[in-house]
Amino acid sequence: MALYLISGIGGFIGSSLARELLSRGEQVRGFDNFSTGKRENLTEILDLIDFREADLGDLAAMHAACGGVDFVLHQAAIPSVPKSVLDPLGSNRANVDGTVNLLVAARDAKVKRVVYAASSSAYGDTPTLPKIETMKPDPISPYAVAKLASEHYLISFYRCYQLETVALRYFNIFGPRQDPTSPYSGVLAKFITVMLRGEQPTIFGDGEQSRDFTYIDNAVEANLLACKAPASKAAGQVFNVATGHRCTLNETFKLLQPLTSYTGQPKYGPERGGDIKHSLADISKAEAALGYKPKVDFQEGLRRTVEWYRSR
Ligand code: UD1
Repeated sequence: MALYLISGIGGFIGSSLARELLSRGEQVRGFDNFSTGKRENLTEILDLIDFREADLGDLAAMHAACGGVDFVLHQAAIPSVPKSVLDPLGSNRANVDGTVNLLVAARDAKVKRVVYAASSSAYGDTPTLPKIETMKPDPISPYAVAKLASEHYLISFYRCYQLETVALRYFNIFGPRQDPTSPYSGVLAKFITVMLRGEQPTIFGDGEQSRDFTYIDNAVEANLLACKAPASKAAGQVFNVATGHRCTLNETFKLLQPLTSYTGQPKYGPERGGDIKHSLADISKAEAALGYKPKVDFQEGLRRTVEWYRSR
């Protein structure tokens, strides 16, 4: 049994990681400042975990949180492209300064490995698809720059201090517990909840943008594999976490219609600043080095997610 520290444990991905670790009999500690995470995501597991309310900006709290920890799963962030365009300083504080604080604490506590929620936004809008880790990154939004800067810090901490680090570039993770209520929420959480209410979803742009939408269970599995993969294959490395397939927003809307029983049409609004057009991952590096294989495909993920929101 190992002790895992989850930063951002109140979030959609952090709380999903906690549930899976508990079901595997592992020990879980976590912290959140509830800036985007939610207490209700932890309700049934609060008694089973060592939870602390803390902010990544508090180095003393990070040192305390890392004591005795085997693996850190660093999910805490302000995870929004448009929010970072409005507030680049806030994005940098949470997404870069916060990461460096946690890395320093993990290094000092001699944590075995840190696995980081990096982002596919690092690739930017370069025309070549699929995106492969060897491509030169070309971030557009402050969020994408911050996530990429943190990746480099992870690699630096491996090179300079031999702290084993792994960066997982998430491609549009979705699933149960993703918050649909903020203007910065992921598109699927918004579309599903809006359509279940019989309301019209808004597509920004022409709807022909595409994403490699990745169901949460695949991201959870990738994190746990990244903790256990041999250091020779994983440490100091960056991996895409995705499915290797993409779907446009127009196609996604059509898939959601029968699942949500929504018979109307979408509204179309202006394209969103900082957005990229297409996103699709090559996942062969994660398959070869981590043994990662997406377990739940897009359509099955949509079905499970719609069911979860419907049951709320
Ligand atoms: C980006 C990053 C992702 C990151 C996430 C955090 C890429 C490829 N991905 O996702 O790694 O974790 O930010 O926020 O850069 N949209 C609508 N209607 C809505 C909401 C969104 O049409 O109501 C559109 C957006 O304009 C965009 C697409 O849906 O074209 C996806 O948006 P969103 O779910 O916010 O994620 P990304 O910005 O792709």
